[in-house]
Amino acid sequence: MPAVVISNGNAVDFGGKITYYVILCAVVAATGGLMFGYDIGISGGVTSMDDFLLKFFPVVYAKKHHAKENNYCKYDNQFLQLFTSSLYLAALVASFIASRTCSNYGRKLTLQMASLFFLSGVALNAGAINLTMLILGRILLGIGVGFANQAAPLFLSEMAPVKYRGALNILFQLNVTIGILFANIINYFVANIHPQGWRIALGIAGIPATLLFVGSLLITETPTSLIERQKLTEGLNTLKKIRGIDNVTAEYDELVLASEMARQVKHPYRNLMKRKSRPQLVIAIAMQVFQQFTGINAIMFYAPVLFQTVGFKSDASLMSSAIVGTINVLSTIVSVVGVDRVGRRVLLLEACVQMLVTQVAIGAILTIDLKDTGDLPKSVALWVVVCVCLYVMSFAWSWGPLGWLIPSETFPLETRTAGYSFAVSSNMLMTFLIAQAFLSMLCTMRAGVFFFFAAWVVVMCLFVIFFLPETKNIPIDEMTERVWKQHWFWKRFMEDEDDIQVAKFQMAQ
Ligand code: BGC
Repeated sequence: MPAVVISNGNAVDFGGKITYYVILCAVVAATGGLMFGYDIGISGGVTSMDDFLLKFFPVVYAKKHHAKENNYCKYDNQFLQLFTSSLYLAALVASFIASRTCSNYGRKLTLQMASLFFLSGVALNAGAINLTMLILGRILLGIGVGFANQAAPLFLSEMAPVKYRGALNILFQLNVTIGILFANIINYFVANIHPQGWRIALGIAGIPATLLFVGSLLITETPTSLIERQKLTEGLNTLKKIRGIDNVTAEYDELVLASEMARQVKHPYRNLMKRKSRPQLVIAIAMQVFQQFTGINAIMFYAPVLFQTVGFKSDASLMSSAIVGTINVLSTIVSVVGVDRVGRRVLLLEACVQMLVTQVAIGAILTIDLKDTGDLPKSVALWVVVCVCLYVMSFAWSWGPLGWLIPSETFPLETRTAGYSFAVSSNMLMTFLIAQAFLSMLCTMRAGVFFFFAAWVVVMCLFVIFFLPETKNIPIDEMTERVWKQHWFWKRFMEDEDDIQVAKFQMAQ
């Protein structure tokens, strides 16, 4: 008979198994990450294709092929950047709306809406005959991404049996990296299809969205969402089905209690602004801001552009970014295996050192060898690729997955979804800023842009050392006692926490 078992004070086991149905549901929901990743990976390749530039950005095309072109400035064009970054601005706004759809209509419907928005964006983009269609298409894609990024990680956490929650969560990030790689490979092959290669690249984005939509017809809503919306019997039956056992009373009761408590909080966002939420909120935002200020998307969006800047020809640069994409996927698997063994802090700090060294090396090589005009010698350019690979490797097992994981495991239930939507939108805002600014920064700061990101890496390293507590193997509901109240700095924000514990206790009676 299943019971609540507390093993070593570390994990609560409700006795359910990991069923094929849960795996199916997780794989389907994680394709939301595939859409996000495909987008990140495709823009850089498309914006370096001549046919695309000639059609939509003739000024950039002319600049790129100008006899006395400037290495660092040939792609600097606000409209070209708007093509990449408009998606993230749309996703930023959409994630707040999606947090409401998630609560009021469920995670599953939010995922379906995500795929439909995304598909209409794909249609506009692939068939674009002018810049307006192109940008409108990007905005629709962005709404799709905002909806998917809010709903998919929530869905995964709620579906997973407690002890597999971390692994299933990182499935989302793994899909992001697979999406980026898939896009890089597509870019590589369509680059030589003239003049419509870019349409194929943008059109193939329809595949992950179709997978999500069709797959979503096979999956169920999460028990949490059903119970939250007062569909108690349906919630109970779903729980039995996904856990593969009949006696799910303990887990069901906990879900009902949790949703009762969450209902007491009428204004989750207002609650989030209270002093006691400060540690989690600061950390959730900081993790996302820092994740983006590693400079990762300067590489992800603009890898082909960047490699061309340092002297690779179009084909070679797309090939190099496909290699970068592969390293990104493989290193994310390292994180899946390692995160609960060595802990979050070790991964983050190791990565800070590796990122710092490689960014300084790239900055130094470019400062010495890449002048405003002319190419880098081949052997030197290869070193740049090696450094980029080492840099991406360290990001992929640290700030990539942990930027999403840590905000999802530090908030108490009453502020968890609101807090998480803050994390999603901070990510989108920072992604937007970097996407919009990077090519101009490269043009004005030259190789110094890499020193800029290196300086941020130092800041985030200090943040981890002093302000980020280890959360490995600590149940979410014990965070207050075991993490925040013990922390040298954050404990001062926990003073009124005892009142909440008393209230919780009274509710449970
Ligand atoms: C980040 C993206 C980034 C990707 C790279 C994600 O966690 O949010 O901005 O492009 O990782 O793999």
